[in-house]
Amino acid sequence: MEESKFREIMLTYDQEEVMEKVCSMNEKDKARILRQCDFLDFSFLKALKTKDKARGKIEPISTLKLSEIALKKDEYEKIGVEAIKEGKIGALVLAGGMGTRLGSNHAKGMYDIGINKPVYIFQRMFENMMDVVNRTGAWIPLFIMTNIMNDREIKEFLIEHKCFGYNPQYIKFFVQDMSPCVDYNGKIMFAKPDEFAMSPNGNGGFYSSMMNAGLDKYCKENGIEYINVFAIDNVLQRIADPVFIGATIESGCATGAKVVKKADPGEKVGSICLEDGMPSVVEYYEMTDELLQAKDADGEPAYEYGVILNYLFRVKEMDGIVRNEMPVHVVKKKVPYLAEDPNSPTGYVTVNPETPNAYKLETLSLDFVQMMGSCLPFEVVREWEFAPIKNAMGIDSVDSARKMLLAAGYEL
Ligand code: UTP
Repeated sequence: MEESKFREIMLTYDQEEVMEKVCSMNEKDKARILRQCDFLDFSFLKALKTKDKARGKIEPISTLKLSEIALKKDEYEKIGVEAIKEGKIGALVLAGGMGTRLGSNHAKGMYDIGINKPVYIFQRMFENMMDVVNRTGAWIPLFIMTNIMNDREIKEFLIEHKCFGYNPQYIKFFVQDMSPCVDYNGKIMFAKPDEFAMSPNGNGGFYSSMMNAGLDKYCKENGIEYINVFAIDNVLQRIADPVFIGATIESGCATGAKVVKKADPGEKVGSICLEDGMPSVVEYYEMTDELLQAKDADGEPAYEYGVILNYLFRVKEMDGIVRNEMPVHVVKKKVPYLAEDPNSPTGYVTVNPETPNAYKLETLSLDFVQMMGSCLPFEVVREWEFAPIKNAMGIDSVDSARKMLLAAGYEL
């Protein structure tokens, strides 16, 4: 990036101090930072001014429940299988996260959750997809979103493991964008003397990054009408699930969202709801006592269904969303940063904080639910579909996922 352009951006986002620091650096360090600026999305900094935006009016939304799905399962499945066979369905795995809570040095998908034999998270994903390929006789195009830090190792890992039997012709990679990390005063942080602290721009960045990679055209040219977007870390979920696809198509909604009945009101999943009359998701930390205690028309807890980050999005409606710009969330996270240290030969040291110390700026897939305009919440059975791996131990961990996989009959 040209220095003049850099100055202009820094002034737009109240980063004068950072601008002065960079511009007074030696030419080599300055050149490195300016190169990094080419792939950082500074526009996310605007979110710092609106970070406490109030939510709209929250009301319950009606969910397609297990009992209702059971009654029409065959019909839904037929519609879903047909759509897959006609090549109308693509899948997209969100593998661009940093997996900081898990604490592995590699991409989360490369984590081995086996006990007596290796079972990698990516392997579970491909095995789940192969169930549908074998059932329908059709390969489902799979988009894999990586980030600039894990892209290479993921590609090498999948080549080494021959994509766990998946046809590589149907796999397309793309790299998501990065955003700068800021301290609690809103100032861009440094990770090294010649590098800003940065992080992937959140799991909602997938569609704009797909477009940058020209994959939206690929969808249109290849007749892909719906994309099943899902997280890499849920090792039980059904991917390109024909019943879910069929129910969403039949409903006419632009989005389908797989949901589970929450294990307890405080479970850390977003609750599906209506917000100002539109389908939406309230995050667990936004739930007030009033919402937690509210009942629906049947006397059931009004917000008892949580999203599991497995959505079916209709491509037609997604096009408009990028133009409208997605909301950017300001999230407190642990961010390694550069601190002055008179005892270090360089005068600096990198600090790895133990508790959150900074803001990451992220877009989230859950915002698509509202922006797409219509949504079918589709209930799934937790024991068969929801074993997320966020931590090494405890809740939502490698341990808990192993227990669930074994209980569901998988060999590890
Ligand atoms: P999480 O929000 O749980 O983040 O991601 P994470 O990176 O896996 O873990 P922590 O928070 O650092 O511990 C949910 C899904 O979204 C993907 C993740 O890879 C995971 O599949 N994700 C997250 C992205 O693809 N990009 C991002 O920028 C963030």
